[in-house]
Amino acid sequence: MAAATVKGVVALEKGAPVEVREVVVPDPGPGEARVTVQACGVCHTDLHYREGAINDDFPFLLGHEAAGVVESVGPDVTEVAPGDFVVLNWRAVCGTCRACRRGRPWYCFATFNATQKMTLADGTELSPALGIGAFAEQTLVAAGQATKVNPAAPPETAGLLGCGVMAGLGAAMYTGEVGRGDSVAVFGCGGVGNAAIAGARLAGASTIIGIDVDDRKLEWATEFGATHTINSRNQDAVEGVQALTDANGANVVVDAVGRPETFKQAFYARDLAGTVVLVGVPNPQWTIELPLIDVFGRGGATKSSWYGDCLPSRDFPMLIDLYLQGRLPLEKFVTETIGLDDVEEAFHKMHKGEVLRSVVVF
Ligand SMILES: NC(=O)c1ccc[n+]([C@@H]2O[C@H](COP(=O)([O-])OP(=O)(O)OC[C@H]3O[C@@H](n4cnc5c(N)ncnc54)[C@H](O)[C@@H]3O)[C@@H](O)[C@H]2O)c1
Ligand SMILES: [Zn+2]
Ligand SMILES: [Zn+2]
Repeated sequence: MAAATVKGVVALEKGAPVEVREVVVPDPGPGEARVTVQACGVCHTDLHYREGAINDDFPFLLGHEAAGVVESVGPDVTEVAPGDFVVLNWRAVCGTCRACRRGRPWYCFATFNATQKMTLADGTELSPALGIGAFAEQTLVAAGQATKVNPAAPPETAGLLGCGVMAGLGAAMYTGEVGRGDSVAVFGCGGVGNAAIAGARLAGASTIIGIDVDDRKLEWATEFGATHTINSRNQDAVEGVQALTDANGANVVVDAVGRPETFKQAFYARDLAGTVVLVGVPNPQWTIELPLIDVFGRGGATKSSWYGDCLPSRDFPMLIDLYLQGRLPLEKFVTETIGLDDVEEAFHKMHKGEVLRSVVVF
């Protein structure tokens, strides 16, 4: 075997349009796997990287919401083998950090990525987005970042579990612990919020309220299982949720926007002793002020949800099976499939709210 040279989407400097460049992908070393990427969704976080909002480790190899086939593995790899159809994840479980030792591996605090670096043709080291870098024909990951799933699922659909869709599903199912007969409200009906709606439906919620400022998103929310929708530009969202829940508020409220105003609305839209889940990622400058007596007096829990508190090895195969059984409409998140050259344009569409997901197909 030898290092592979492939095409990949690279952010060379802060704010500059992304470019397709040659990328050198090393032979997998111990514990590593090289994966032939078949599809990779365009996520907001890719745009955050190229805007310099994550860190300054340019150049970045973007893309992290992907499915593909294991091409080769290095020594000591037991998780996957060449030919396996896999979904990539950015929170592989290490098994040894303090979260893992406490039996809470979905909080795993370790960073568990490939140790070798992918580079540009001139040898410049690339920083792969979220330790993955999958807007490329091949990528190198830690073997634990690749989870084998049923190959009957199309890659453009399966790959979505790698980030936002998993975060939304898990925000409802795991962090919010939605159960049968619960009422659920979801602020923000983009990819993550609609996944939270789909997760609430899977978990048996009987009232599911989708809230957004864009009617197009609310139509999508209905397709994913919202029983009611509220356009919070036209109607007070808290009053709207109360009116649909016998004046009580919802048992679980998911904030999939992550702005101070939506978090406050979410906080007051839940029933006493209900749960608020923050899955939207706030801008580091934002703050909120709440009467402390309300935090106490309303009881319950306010939680944040990292990657939906998922365990890829448990959840990816299970969710793909539910999809193949027709119980989870993952294909509805794919608004369009595009080529590797179209990522920059997909960022613009995302910014304008025209898509749930654009997915690069190889
Ligand atoms: N926690 C995690 O692990 C995780 C993983 C992936 C993404 N995210 C985050 O989730 C958030 C949502 O991601 P997405 O891909 O769904 O984005 P998106 O842009 O597709 O969706 C956001 C939605 O919020 C709506 N919105 C904006 N302002 C609003 C307001 N004031 N009230 C109600 N709705 C409003 C928009 O119209 C849009 O439909 C982002 O912050 C993203 O970074 C978190
Ligand atoms: Zn760990
Ligand atoms: Zn993402």
